[in-house]
Amino acid sequence: MSTVLALETSCDDACAALVADGRTVLAEARASLEDDLAAWGGVVPEIAARGHIAALPGLVQRVLDEAGIGLDAVRAVAVAAWPGLGGSLLSGVTAAKAIALRRGLPLVAVDHIAAHLAAVHLGRERVDYPFVGLVASGGHSHIYLAAAPGELELLGGTIDDAAGEAFDKAAQILGLPYPGGPQIDRLARQGDAARLALPRSFLRDGTLRLSFAGLKTALLRHARGPLGRDPMALSPQQVADACASFQAAVVDVLADKLAEAARAHAVRSIAVGGGVACNSALRARLDAVAARAGWTLLLPEPRHCADNAAMVGALGFHLWRAGRLAPSDLAPLPTGIMGPRKTGKAARTAADAVRSP
Ligand code: KG4
Ligand code: ZN
Repeated sequence: MSTVLALETSCDDACAALVADGRTVLAEARASLEDDLAAWGGVVPEIAARGHIAALPGLVQRVLDEAGIGLDAVRAVAVAAWPGLGGSLLSGVTAAKAIALRRGLPLVAVDHIAAHLAAVHLGRERVDYPFVGLVASGGHSHIYLAAAPGELELLGGTIDDAAGEAFDKAAQILGLPYPGGPQIDRLARQGDAARLALPRSFLRDGTLRLSFAGLKTALLRHARGPLGRDPMALSPQQVADACASFQAAVVDVLADKLAEAARAHAVRSIAVGGGVACNSALRARLDAVAARAGWTLLLPEPRHCADNAAMVGALGFHLWRAGRLAPSDLAPLPTGIMGPRKTGKAARTAADAVRSP
């Protein structure tokens, strides 16, 4: 058994996990700053970074205790090194480097976006490549062709807001707390999705472009008047209807574009990762889409769709096995290297390129 210790601190949560053979989660722990950040209506980078620094030593100890092993049983350390918030990433990268250096362990730098799609390995004996995968989170909504773990070719994505960002902004418009996705998911169950006619940008236009800005503006006008500046005056039932209508519009375009990509590349599996993949309506729709087309749906359980360290351990294992180690002077790269723009080749050499200035 090859156990990887994985850290993920790219945004507002600090997470640690122990993952065996890239697929079996031995233990995982999370320190969420959601309560501290709710008062601000979003992520405050400095508060997040300070929270991670305080949380990390305890998180690492917790996963070791839970798995009943010591650091001597760990074979490699993996950390999400890009993209993300600078200070948040730095806290995880510094901790991972310190542990790797102190214990003489190999260090693996992981792309957070690629890790979201590597989450499909968790709890799964085998994953057949290639597949097309959608990463829909607070910062990304992009569709990739995955040739192997961590080897992604960008096929398309949003030209403005990310899907999760759209959920968060829609919730804010409707007077719901941050993060908005889970709130809208919950309230949508009591709402009528046909109540509002909201736009579905680029739907069936033959491209893999996504856009959520127009949808957000349409909701704003509905909830806060023609100029979007009136106080929110919807009844609880009208809010639920708005949630259901908004969610249906997002699900329509995400599911449609992913299916379009799968057909265009003649793959047999589709995958989804990122916090938005927790959405119950999206999960149900993709289930139906995959069943109809005869595709395998690679859908991680919700806790491995949202940011988590187990996905970093899954990808870290494969990169380590492929000899793709990070340099000892690894530095985080907030803007990302592979990011949404770069493709397979860049991903392969990313770890070598990330050095301290
Ligand atoms: O992947 P993630 O945990 O962090 C990022 O890398 O951004 O995604 C967070 C995003 C937030 O925008 C949140 O509102 C959204 O995922 N989200 C959801 C749901 N749960 C989380 N969106 C829709 N439905 C959900 N159930
Ligand atoms: Zn994420």
